[in-house]
Amino acid sequence: MRAWFLDELTGIGALRLGEIPEPTPQAGEVVLQIHYAALNPADRYLAERQYPAKPALPHVLGRDGMGTVVAVGPDVTGIAVGDRRLVLRGDVGVERAGTFAGYVAVPVESLAEIPRGWEEPESACATLVYLTSYQALTMWGALPPSSVALVTGASGGVGVASVQLAVAMGLFVVALSRSEEKRERLRQLGASICLDPGQPGWRTALKKTLAPRRVDLAIDNIGGALLPEVIETLGDAGKVSLVGRLAGPVPSFNTAALFFRRIRLGGVAVGANTNAESRAGWQEVLLLLARTNARPLVDSVLPFDQLPQAFARMAAGPMGKVVINVKE
Ligand SMILES: NC(=O)c1ccc[n+]([C@@H]2O[C@H](COP(=O)([O-])OP(=O)(O)OC[C@H]3O[C@@H](n4cnc5c(N)ncnc54)[C@H](OP(=O)(O)O)[C@@H]3O)[C@@H](O)[C@H]2O)c1
Repeated sequence: MRAWFLDELTGIGALRLGEIPEPTPQAGEVVLQIHYAALNPADRYLAERQYPAKPALPHVLGRDGMGTVVAVGPDVTGIAVGDRRLVLRGDVGVERAGTFAGYVAVPVESLAEIPRGWEEPESACATLVYLTSYQALTMWGALPPSSVALVTGASGGVGVASVQLAVAMGLFVVALSRSEEKRERLRQLGASICLDPGQPGWRTALKKTLAPRRVDLAIDNIGGALLPEVIETLGDAGKVSLVGRLAGPVPSFNTAALFFRRIRLGGVAVGANTNAESRAGWQEVLLLLARTNARPLVDSVLPFDQLPQAFARMAAGPMGKVVINVKE
């Protein structure tokens, strides 16, 4: 079968398109013919050895995807050849071969049904980012309605999912994006305040607009110099769900900034979800999205042989998810 694979973990520049053997399903597994697969920054981190995974080489990346069941292994019930499924969460594309290939073997507990009415590219790109956002929004317990949630990197995969879920939860959403065009799209998705974190005055403008309220929960996809600025916008008992670090290490900042408002920081790890947590979280995500008729936002769909261009698109800052069309 055709697959993009890595012979060494030296970065996505080492990705090669070639032929590798088709998988056969082991006990408890099915083989999916992949129709669409979606990219995540974690694919790049794994390729750069920045991720705590040690897959056998050659390794096929790709954690998200959807397709049709073409073979069913022993001890599998409730799923048949011809059924369409999406990959929920698990080791696919991490410790075992992923979705950037014609076919992938998947344990049945890592599969979920295609939500009614969703297009195939939407179904392929949803689970990782929504489960991450759901964890980031709920890890501190229920927030009172109308609490203020701020999302950094709001135009990206996790960002858009966080904005959509926060709006569905009835929160007042502040979205940060460096692009005016994307801030306009974020307003259409229901964000009440959209600001450019590159403008030195963004915190003053936010404080003025929110007063006397402040931010209750920040979902941070960016890290770097922006994190201490985000912390400054929090109110008493404010929280930060730390998701990503696209802007790199956080420069030193005075931890006294955390004391007086009893601010709490906590890490998000969707990869640490148990299967039961992913399944329960996914059901909650679908209920929330149904409240506002929200659907996954696809930035672009590129042909399978343009996976490197798809990674470049993601690095340039997408609006939603970057997807590849594997089947065609
Ligand atoms: N902890 C977990 O379990 C978990 C799960 C999923 C993802 N993540 C991490 O979360 C982060 C976000 O993932 P994603 O899928 O949303 O990424 P993404 O789709 O690539 O989007 C990130 C957005 O952040 C902004 N951005 C990118 N680089 C930036 C920089 N240097 N400075 C400021 N803004 C920047 C861009 O928005 P604008 O151009 O509009 O500003 C971009 O659209 C990544 O680090 C990823 O690895 C963690």
